[in-house]
Amino acid sequence: MNVRKAVFPAAGLGTRFLPATKASPKEMLPLVDKPLIQYGIEEAAASGLTQAIIVTGRGKRAIEDHFDISIELEHALEAKGEYELIEELRAIANLMSMCYVRQKTPLGLGHAILCASGAVGDEPFAVVLGDDIIDARVPCLKQLLEVAGEHRASVIALERIPREAISRYGVIDGTQVGDRLWSITDLVEKPPAEEAPSDLAIIGRYVLVPAIFPLLEQIKPDRKGEVQLTDALRALAAEEPLYGVVFEGKRYDAGDKLGFLQATVEYALKNGELGEDFRHYLRSLPL
Ligand code: G1P
Repeated sequence: MNVRKAVFPAAGLGTRFLPATKASPKEMLPLVDKPLIQYGIEEAAASGLTQAIIVTGRGKRAIEDHFDISIELEHALEAKGEYELIEELRAIANLMSMCYVRQKTPLGLGHAILCASGAVGDEPFAVVLGDDIIDARVPCLKQLLEVAGEHRASVIALERIPREAISRYGVIDGTQVGDRLWSITDLVEKPPAEEAPSDLAIIGRYVLVPAIFPLLEQIKPDRKGEVQLTDALRALAAEEPLYGVVFEGKRYDAGDKLGFLQATVEYALKNGELGEDFRHYLRSLPL
């Protein structure tokens, strides 16, 4: 299966992170020294994908500027002899080829993916939800792509979640068919804990066949008026094989204030430049 494109839904209003996201896109919140969305783009590039399709909305222009070349900035840095920094900034613009489509109304994740259908065309593609930051030896998306290639089918990332938190996720039902591999028979979006079919939650990494688009078109909006990707996946699973991989790695929900702080602390501790000093600083705190 030859997958080249990754869709990044980025039109959300970031309500879980107000007031920080009142005038700035949540995708641009810095995790240590890079905006959140750059982690997703780097993961997709490290997984061998070459084309990013960002689904944006109003107030998200900073994302486009971040992945562009900034001539003014480069001139200023050149005058100061900061050539390494110029290289670093150029590298960001060259991670993937970028394309932007607008989601004019916030009608949910499924609708955002549908907005990208023209740019994706008739080929398998990945979806990366930037709120889910995943630290893994083998990039999470690459883990999914390996399974997708082997089984020639759609694959989604899974994580075991404690019952009390399961209602915040899409949840699958299925049969275990390998060490970390599940064959999915059903999916339900954010069920009450007592109705969840398992403790296996959908995490924001997907490799999908283009057959998902006509299914998305048929999905009726839920009570909140949102078209859910999970509902289209349910229809897909009824028609053809769909797999789930309990990925190896650690995920942070960086769209949530506490999850964002946890990711910040752990990524700062791992940072080559800051880690040592930051560790000393944390140890010195009267916790
Ligand atoms: C979305 C999906 C949900 C999934 C989650 C993972 O929900 O709809 O199925 O479990 O991402 O982060 P959201 O977090 O956008 O509400």
